[in-house]
Amino acid sequence: MTHHRIALIPGDGIGTEVLPAARRVLDSVAGRHGIRFTYQSFDWSCERYVHEGAMMPEDGLEQLRGYDAILLGAVGYPGVPDHVSLWGLLIPIRRGFQQYVNLRPIRVFEGVPSPLRDARPGEVDFVVVRENVEGEYGEIGGRLARGLPEELAVQEAVFTRKGVTRILDYAFDLAGRRGHRLTSATKSNGIVHTMPFWDELVAERAARHADVTWNQEHIDALAAKFVLDPARFDVVVASNLFGDILSDLAAAVAGSIGIAPAANLNPERDFPSMFEPVHGSAPDIAGRGIANPLGAIWSAAMMLDHLGHPEAANEITDAIAALLAKTPVRTPDLGGTAMTEQFTDALLEVV
Ligand code: NAD
Ligand code: IPM
Ligand code: MN
Repeated sequence: MTHHRIALIPGDGIGTEVLPAARRVLDSVAGRHGIRFTYQSFDWSCERYVHEGAMMPEDGLEQLRGYDAILLGAVGYPGVPDHVSLWGLLIPIRRGFQQYVNLRPIRVFEGVPSPLRDARPGEVDFVVVRENVEGEYGEIGGRLARGLPEELAVQEAVFTRKGVTRILDYAFDLAGRRGHRLTSATKSNGIVHTMPFWDELVAERAARHADVTWNQEHIDALAAKFVLDPARFDVVVASNLFGDILSDLAAAVAGSIGIAPAANLNPERDFPSMFEPVHGSAPDIAGRGIANPLGAIWSAAMMLDHLGHPEAANEITDAIAALLAKTPVRTPDLGGTAMTEQFTDALLEVV
């Protein structure tokens, strides 16, 4: 029996609705694969901020450090400014634990109509590898002359040789294990300093990964190609902001942002990695019990894979595919009327 200690951070809004679903699915596959999970739940959230003045305790990262992995729902809720909630919880975990790879797979499943006629099930199966700790999400900058006519805000994008090289190597290695094709998202035609540097490093790393065919696309054109021809992609590597935008776009092309998962990985395993759906706390539907739990459940499957249980992980993704292909049960984002819990029940019948 392998034992894993998991830190659960449900967070805000539908985060608190989809995380229990992920936990039910984890528990149902665990026994069959000789896995035992113990969970510790942390109430770190906007609600905590309102009552205690901080999203998490000062020693929050130390508290998390000993866990094998972190499963997170979503962070952010109206009433607490996003820069307070996100920079008070989500971003410090990603940075503090050097989770510099943000892996975001996309699949068009049978039974889930893509809004695009050409995005046929099975043909669309790619991964966005998003740089997760630097780039456009730089911490250098500020706001000056608040409220005055001269008011301004500046923010430095920070791209380091070390940071760019390691995400590129991760993406090239992944492409080498998948379809041997890599696309780099760039904007070297418009951004003069950072993106030409990114491109040079892509060419440099590509020379060391001769098994992978690669190209680069400007981010604006690439966004159009995600919509027009999503089946052409295998691994797409992108900076922090470009990867953020591309992953929501890809999720929508695949039918719903409610399905899309993410793994925030520290590949060296010096620190715990964190698994969370791509979507946020969805205040517009929170509290109604209708959130699609599949993004959180697929994220839990990615956690199992990371923890060394690929068969258990595949069992979950196969069950998701079977559920969508074979039953009409689905949440409203997928055109159904099922509640989160019913949808999870239906999944547990096929897993
Ligand atoms: P969002 O992803 O929360 O919602 C966008 C749209 O998608 C909404 O219409 C929502 O109802 C729908 N949606 C999202 N997840 C769904 C699901 N599982 N099932 C059905 N429908 C779903 O994005 P937003 O509205 O831009 O952000 C809301 C809050 O969440 C903000 O505070 C934002 O900062 C935060 N956020 C957090 C994370 C995170 O914790 N990783 C990610 C994105 C946004
Ligand atoms: C995501 C989110 C976050 C990001 C926000 C909420 C800070 O959009 O995980 O995709 O931009 O990384
Ligand atoms: Mn995002």
